[in-house]
Amino acid sequence: MHSRTVMPTTAAPGRDAGDRMETPRAAARSVGDRIEELRARYGADLTVVGHHYQADEVVAHCGLCGDSLELARRCATLETRHIMFCGVYFMAESAALLAAQGVQVHLPEPSAECSMALMSPAALLRGVMKTLTRNGRKVIPLAYVNSTLGVKAVAGGFGGAVCTSANAGTMLEWALREGDAVLFLPDKNLGGNTADALGLPERDRHILRIVRGAEELDTAAADRARLLLWPGFCSIHTRFNLRQVERLRAEHPGATVAVHPECVPAVAAAADAVGSTAFIIRYVNEAPDNAVLGIGTEINLVERLARRHAERLTVLPLVESACTHMAQTTEDSLCAALEALSRAEDAGEESPCRVRIKSELQAPARAALERMLERCA
Ligand code: 13P
Repeated sequence: MHSRTVMPTTAAPGRDAGDRMETPRAAARSVGDRIEELRARYGADLTVVGHHYQADEVVAHCGLCGDSLELARRCATLETRHIMFCGVYFMAESAALLAAQGVQVHLPEPSAECSMALMSPAALLRGVMKTLTRNGRKVIPLAYVNSTLGVKAVAGGFGGAVCTSANAGTMLEWALREGDAVLFLPDKNLGGNTADALGLPERDRHILRIVRGAEELDTAAADRARLLLWPGFCSIHTRFNLRQVERLRAEHPGATVAVHPECVPAVAAAADAVGSTAFIIRYVNEAPDNAVLGIGTEINLVERLARRHAERLTVLPLVESACTHMAQTTEDSLCAALEALSRAEDAGEESPCRVRIKSELQAPARAALERMLERCA
């Protein structure tokens, strides 16, 4: 574990304390030690959870690490008092929504947002849905979990659901059966790649033009399509391109390439395998000895997999692409959040990192998330 030294303490006497003092460095406690001390103090009352994109120094303190589907499922059943969620805001919001009554969810860095989630504001979605359904057409919104709680609530209110990259295919099939059309949001690439995997023809799809508002929609084209795609994207996964795939294959003949479905469709089509974070981990775990694998996803995960399998595999990133929002959570900010929680509890106050859910969003957002969990248990 990589831990910076933070609190030089008074040197404790060493075995030969009469001759020399122990150096402050040897007696110092690290941030990591302090986190573990606080975790031990809370015991089962605290669960530190983290997404696979977190840095190793944070993952080392997580009692539970997973992709967004696994974390949503597990947080719903955790028997604990506090969940300290090392990830980005929408993940902690989903955990707060699904957690059992009395469980508080905290985000060490409350400003750690997902830029893709911010590309579909709830008010704009509501306006777009009103336009798309103006003639009585049944359009089912399918909100990728990388969306705000407000968006999940709008989706739930229109009979829609949430999906993750691990179950987008199952949920898109469901939504296509449920309505005349589906509005997939915010990620046009995940939506397009999932449609490709299901064999939905290009002519049945339409990427909505939304820059300022619903008034820009090409309603004639939207009314003809069965799959409407919101024009959002993930800036981490859209850094991967065809040139990188070709270069990796040229430099490592026989290499196979696996990418996350948030990559652009041309990269997904060129890859040997496309799948969620959990899928990519399995893909690497199950690769034959001596394989060379090119991976197109967040660099923390790729480097962790490369280290874990260094004895038998070569795991290479297509390019180093880091999520700066995930990286806002560090060992320091995790420690500070735990200290703040502990101080707040001692004072009978609420932790400043607590994620609070607006009461009016709870029922519709929960309905959208539960529609996913019912179908993808
Ligand atoms: P997963 O659903 O695969 O965990 O991905 C989450 C994410 O934020 C990808 O950018």
